[in-house]
Amino acid sequence: MKKKILALGMAVCMAASLTACGNGSSSQTTTAADTTAVETTATETAAGSEAESTEGESETEVAAAAEIQTVTAGKLTVATSPDFAPYEFYAIGADGTPSLAGFDMALAQYIADDLGLELEIVTVDFDGVLSELQTKSVDLGMAGLSPDPKREGIMDFSDLYYIGGQSLVTVKANADTYNTFEAINKPEVSVGAQIGSIQMDLANTNSPDADIVALPKVTDIIAELLTGKMDAAYIETDVAKSYQKNYPELEIVMEVPYDQEGSSIGVCKGNEGLLAAVNASIAKALEDGSMEKFVAEANELASGEKYEGLLDESGQVQE
Ligand code: ARG
Repeated sequence: MKKKILALGMAVCMAASLTACGNGSSSQTTTAADTTAVETTATETAAGSEAESTEGESETEVAAAAEIQTVTAGKLTVATSPDFAPYEFYAIGADGTPSLAGFDMALAQYIADDLGLELEIVTVDFDGVLSELQTKSVDLGMAGLSPDPKREGIMDFSDLYYIGGQSLVTVKANADTYNTFEAINKPEVSVGAQIGSIQMDLANTNSPDADIVALPKVTDIIAELLTGKMDAAYIETDVAKSYQKNYPELEIVMEVPYDQEGSSIGVCKGNEGLLAAVNASIAKALEDGSMEKFVAEANELASGEKYEGLLDESGQVQE
């Protein structure tokens, strides 16, 4: 059924214009992708005997898919930063193979399926997610992204799909020392946050006098906390809780207030068709119980063997 919607969506799209599904930035790429799509359409149509009735049922989807422009025709390209369980991380399979997991990834797949697009994930550090969106190299950024008004110039925000919180984290041994903003707001106290994140702003606002250390990955921050190189850090609460399962010496000392709580999807600026479609898919995933299931599954997987960070060139975890 999904495949048929994809095939029909493609057909309508191509009938309208060869470049209607892409941004037209590279006509060669668009043409190549469309050629594949033609073949797919032909196969699907030949194989599907109830193609006509499907057409009747899925008119809205077909119309919606035709209006959606993506950087590569037929694909939904999503940037993420997989250092952030249970949002996004690598689950290590029984044979040691890492595969992308987390509720953001499950939601990405749900949205791609819903829109009849093939999902393509681009993994980068979090500041890379922001720049991929800014340069319009991807369609979406799904990385537990906060709808920070300062980012409005470089992306649009979807509706919220998850509500989390912010925390100040240290290790058990220091939990009585670094447990207030006052206690950490000193030049001799090192306080970490991920580069480009709102946690950096929380550090600058709440601990302006501290020695603020900006690192590219949350994994780096955790490693520094555990080895005593860093005293405290601002981390998303559910992520801190997830790390705590693997490293019980971590301690969440306090909740940190933040105005724009919740995660939204960063959508390539000005792509109104995609934004509307993404919001419709989010509403559906919240409504039909899928999101709840994705969160439960992600938490379950995150408590098993996992890896947070980028893979090396051969697709293996970097030790
Ligand atoms: N919610 C924070 C922000 O938007 C942090 C997100 C970090 N995400 C990640 N996958 N590392 O700035």
